[in-house]
Amino acid sequence: MEFQNIVFEVEESIAVVKINRPNKLNALNEQTLKELQEVFNEIQNNERIYVAILTGEGEKAFVAGADINELNKLDVISAKKFAEFGQGVFNLIENLGKPVIAAVNGFALGGGCELALACHFRVASENAKFGQPEVNLGIIPGYGGTQRLARQINSGRAMQIILTGEMIDANEAYRIGLVNKVFPQNELLDKAKEIARTIASKGQIAVRYALQAVVASNNLPVEDGLKYEASLFSLCMGTEDFKEGTSAFLEKRKPEFKGK
Ligand code: COA
Repeated sequence: MEFQNIVFEVEESIAVVKINRPNKLNALNEQTLKELQEVFNEIQNNERIYVAILTGEGEKAFVAGADINELNKLDVISAKKFAEFGQGVFNLIENLGKPVIAAVNGFALGGGCELALACHFRVASENAKFGQPEVNLGIIPGYGGTQRLARQINSGRAMQIILTGEMIDANEAYRIGLVNKVFPQNELLDKAKEIARTIASKGQIAVRYALQAVVASNNLPVEDGLKYEASLFSLCMGTEDFKEGTSAFLEKRKPEFKGK
């Protein structure tokens, strides 16, 4: 697969996707969004890949937003398609069925913050900065920011970030629960890989059911979510990994999961 604006690597069961337009601070133009769609379809279909990490090339930006050159040309009709296409790509990531970790290595603004929010959780470098600066451009977030930010953090704080367009640093992002951990820039990717390897060492059917159940909690009333959880919980008992995991515990040895 040939990409212009993305670097895609697979190391054992971990995929690393780097958005690669550093001279434009990795801004998301249409081509980059199409390539993201293509690469995440590949990750979804590739049985060798268990976990993906999404990051940006360079030391300055994860993604500094949608490409403002393209935004500037939109009208009422094309803007709806623009938002729906981006939302579709971000929904693909959220509903990938495999964990996606955002390793936020610099600016994550507008569409960049929204892209990080579509991932299942976020770690960041010390120089990372987050924001939804769309109001500075006379627009509102269009790739899910009004929905996912308010679900991820306290809704009043999300409201303030969106309405003021303020940029927050990595420590503040950690304090409000937007990122799980902050690392020095030069350690970020290795630390993200360490987390990915931990996830990859578990029973993958259980990992995927757990992921599915938590993702569903965003959209289901708690009663329906609990029913869904009980169904997926019982399905685990039909797997070899369940026998292996519980037997290994009882036999005081490390489990060898096969994802079956
Ligand atoms: N779309 C298109 N190009 C962008 C961009 C974006 N969202 N963000 C940065 N760039 C480009 C700049 O135009 C510049 O290109 P040039 O060298 O060809 O002029 C290059 O990336 C470097 O950016 P620059 O602004 O010079 O870097 P900086 O360190 O001075 O400022 C930011 C960094 C992130 C504060 C600033 O680039 C910025 O505010 N970007 C837009 C953020 C935004 O509003 N995003 C939401 C869009 S909905």
